[in-house]
Amino acid sequence: MPAKRQDGPFDWIDAQREQRRRAGLVRELRPRPATSPLLDLAGNDYLGLARHPGVTAAAGAAAREWGAGSTGSRLVTGSTELHARLEAELAAFCGFEAALVLSSGYAANLAAVTALTVRGGLLVSDESNHASLIDGCRLSRAETAVVPHADPEAVRKALDGHDGPALAVTDSVFSVDGDAAPLRELADACRAGGAGLLVDDAHGLGVLGDGGRGAPYAAGLAGAGDVVATVTLSKSLGSQGGAVLGPARVVEHLVNTARTLIFDTGLNPAAAGAALAALRLLRGEPGRAERVREVAGALHAGLTAAGLAAVRPDAAVVSVRAPSPEAAVRWAADCRAAGLAVGCFRPPSVPDGVSRLRLTARADLTDEQVARAVETVAGTAPRPV
Ligand SMILES: Cc1ncc(COP(=O)(O)O)c(C=O)c1O
Repeated sequence: MPAKRQDGPFDWIDAQREQRRRAGLVRELRPRPATSPLLDLAGNDYLGLARHPGVTAAAGAAAREWGAGSTGSRLVTGSTELHARLEAELAAFCGFEAALVLSSGYAANLAAVTALTVRGGLLVSDESNHASLIDGCRLSRAETAVVPHADPEAVRKALDGHDGPALAVTDSVFSVDGDAAPLRELADACRAGGAGLLVDDAHGLGVLGDGGRGAPYAAGLAGAGDVVATVTLSKSLGSQGGAVLGPARVVEHLVNTARTLIFDTGLNPAAAGAALAALRLLRGEPGRAERVREVAGALHAGLTAAGLAAVRPDAAVVSVRAPSPEAAVRWAADCRAAGLAVGCFRPPSVPDGVSRLRLTARADLTDEQVARAVETVAGTAPRPV
């Protein structure tokens, strides 16, 4: 009998690849060099801290002091005094009682959504939430109701009549369009329905609120007993990792029940040290948060004046619609050829029909660089947009 082909079980992926190719949805990794002539408006280094000498030196010092890895789960050997310091300072800065650091913002969202819901409970999730919140809903044992975007009334209705634990989850700033959630109204809706509110502040920390204290702080919700936030250390803080911020009893509950904390190696010391140094810089130089908002406003004003369909940014993300996924890919490539790196969003990251470029503002951009970015995006735009 001839031997069975060993690669047969994966033949179906070729059909999927062909479908992606025909739809203009092929993705590929493009390793970037350490130094690049491109003007970078594609990354999430909002405050320009990823390469700040104080931040990189802190990463090196932490690795030398604590080791290159944390050596274990935070519940075994992976919780250092450095993690504890970072948690205390992060919680105090953002106005929460306690914080828990995890290995990514993704892991923080999975931890918070799954640990704060129960079988028979209800999760109410904005339709535009980040993939990590969506995955948290998929992993949760609660029922999930997906509600229209930024719609407190819809949250109120979804909670109406539900008896038992409930949690509403929302991004504070939506990662593709850059618009902000109506947090105060959402909190009112949650309070009326007896639900907790979980806010993913990945794009708010370092940008919104007094000195960059984040969106829950700006909305007067930080420190409330019924509000929990998640953050990433990988955007404004220029490092890597994530955290859940909330009441001490919530953090204690997560330490005991959150699988992405218990079964994951603790955040590496270099990342914790870098994030702590970046947080201290942000605290000492609150003008950085103001500057990134100013740059986002200038990008939006310039793009709009050039006739492009740019969404008004509520924080650092500026989104510009493209006519199709293929046009978005070509547009981003033309920008790159002209010396500008921009993000390109198409399905499945965004719904069909709303492919776009995403420009991220940075506090360390000069006015001349902002003008050059606008000129490049406008000069390479597909017609009509
Ligand atoms: C809104 C939002 N939440 C969560 C995350 C995940 O954070 P991290 O990259 O630290 O895993 C991101 C980052 O991509 C994000 O944009």
